[in-house]
Amino acid sequence: MLPPVIVVLMLISFTCGENPAIQVTLTNKGLQYGKNLGAERVQEKLELITLPDITGEVLGIHYILTGITITKCDFPEPIVEFNQDYTGFTTSILGLSVALTGGWMTHFGIIHDGGSFNIAIFGVDVTSVVELGKTPDGHLSLTSVSCDAQVGDVNIQFQGGASWIFQPFVEHFKGRMRSEIRSSICSNVEESIVNLDYHLQTMEVSFNVGQDLGFDAHLTDIPVINESSMILGLQGEFYNIRTHQKPPFEVLPFTLPEQPDYMLSMGLSDSTVNSASYELYSAGRLQVLLTDSMIPPYIHTRLNTSSMGPYIPQLPKMFPGLLMNLQVYATEVPMFSFQPGVVVLGLQGDVKAVAIQPNDTQTPLFKLHVDSNFSGKVWVAAGIVKGSMTLQNLTLTLAASEVGPFETDKLQALVKLGVMAGLAKLNVELGKGLVLPRTRNIELVNTVLGVEEGFIAMCSDAQVFKDSFN
Ligand SMILES: *[C@@H]1O[C@H](CO)[C@@H](O)[C@H](O)[C@H]1NC(C)=O
Ligand SMILES: *[C@@H]1O[C@H](CO)[C@@H](O)[C@H](O)[C@H]1NC(C)=O
Ligand SMILES: *[C@@H]1O[C@H](CO)[C@@H](O)[C@H](O)[C@H]1NC(C)=O
Ligand SMILES: *[C@@H]1O[C@H](CO)[C@@H](O)[C@H](O)[C@H]1NC(C)=O
Ligand SMILES: *[C@@H]1O[C@H](CO)[C@@H](O)[C@H](O)[C@H]1NC(C)=O
Repeated sequence: MLPPVIVVLMLISFTCGENPAIQVTLTNKGLQYGKNLGAERVQEKLELITLPDITGEVLGIHYILTGITITKCDFPEPIVEFNQDYTGFTTSILGLSVALTGGWMTHFGIIHDGGSFNIAIFGVDVTSVVELGKTPDGHLSLTSVSCDAQVGDVNIQFQGGASWIFQPFVEHFKGRMRSEIRSSICSNVEESIVNLDYHLQTMEVSFNVGQDLGFDAHLTDIPVINESSMILGLQGEFYNIRTHQKPPFEVLPFTLPEQPDYMLSMGLSDSTVNSASYELYSAGRLQVLLTDSMIPPYIHTRLNTSSMGPYIPQLPKMFPGLLMNLQVYATEVPMFSFQPGVVVLGLQGDVKAVAIQPNDTQTPLFKLHVDSNFSGKVWVAAGIVKGSMTLQNLTLTLAASEVGPFETDKLQALVKLGVMAGLAKLNVELGKGLVLPRTRNIELVNTVLGVEEGFIAMCSDAQVFKDSFN
């Protein structure tokens, strides 16, 4: 009954747990895929199931039904639908029939008797409605709204022993048996829902993703459900684990277009990327020290005052033959902006140049301000997310100088070349790409990715591996 819902929630937990995003949509296609997997699983399990013994007392006779196994089960295809009225799902199985067999034993005083029995249960209809919600701490919650079970008919045949004595009573107890089966179906369904909800409550909604950096993926609101889809909104923001400091900018709302041909779609706002950028910037981690040793030996221009003649004519005269260090750091939070088909990155920073005296004293030389823009592309090829970055524009301005004024044009051209060389290396890595995250249980297939105004949209089908249920 519940497994279809379990599969659906696995798909969701996958996206919450390992591939954080801001909006996750489950389409009807995804729901039906989950349903089919769940139904397969139920059928497989039913064939193996051994039911618990049933004991009781009838007319002062103690009885036990034991070794009950299912011999045949007509398991009609379940129906699973989004339920807009209850913000949840409706699951129904109509016309289920089960044949069971087992042994019976009775004790009446010192008289023991026993034999076998066959039970046929016909026309079982079960309809369960579950509601999805959000707990105060942002977990997805699941509650049973209603469970309705009907049992068409029950037939029992006892064989062996003194079964001829009590067989006539079967007719008499049919009504009670039907109502007991009904309530046991629903109590089982409700118990599974409670278990599933417990599982959801133990799932992480924030993750430690590295040095002082956490990722918050709690639900921002109750799920949005209509006839064709379910949308979950997740916080999708990086924060500082120690200070719990959050970025000062708001997440702008966006609408993920419905993609009914895919099981899932995910939308990642540029705010998510910018929150990471903000936290890295605030933690002072967007800086780098460039030294001469980092420049490949085949490059003629060195970080050496004697090499700087063509760019800063006075420098080799004032400080001849000294190595230089460049302290490069961001002066603003680098901001990403997602625009149709392209990711734009604005990067502003300062470069402080010092000369290293033979006695290791650092002598300040000048400070440059760098304003640069990059554009990037992201795409998915054969299950791998790839990207590339291009320098759009870069301007250098002189912010301070201990060596007197100088023109920055030539230096700017040199820096552009340097940045482009760096990008070429980066693009080799981006071209190798990042394999789409997958778990032991679930893999994303047929994934497409596109950059839209304010967000990156990813649509995908999922493939669940069967052995993941064991
Ligand atoms: C359900 O909601 C989605 C997203 O808001 C929308 O695109 C779609 O048209 C809606 N479907 C129906 C049947 O109302
Ligand atoms: C800097 O370059 C000059 C000229 O090539 C060279 O003589 C000098 O040794 C270099 N300085 C250092 C510290 O390597
Ligand atoms: C290091 O050398 C420089 C340049 O010769 C000089 O100005 C400075 O005082 C020296 N510093 C120390 C600590 O010796
Ligand atoms: C980079 O882009 C921003 C916003 O589009 C713009 O304000 C800035 O002037 C650009 N900088 C350069 C160096 O092109
Ligand atoms: C580069 O930036 C400068 C200064 O912001 C601007 O004048 C120039 O038009 C920009 N060039 C391009 C190609 O965007």
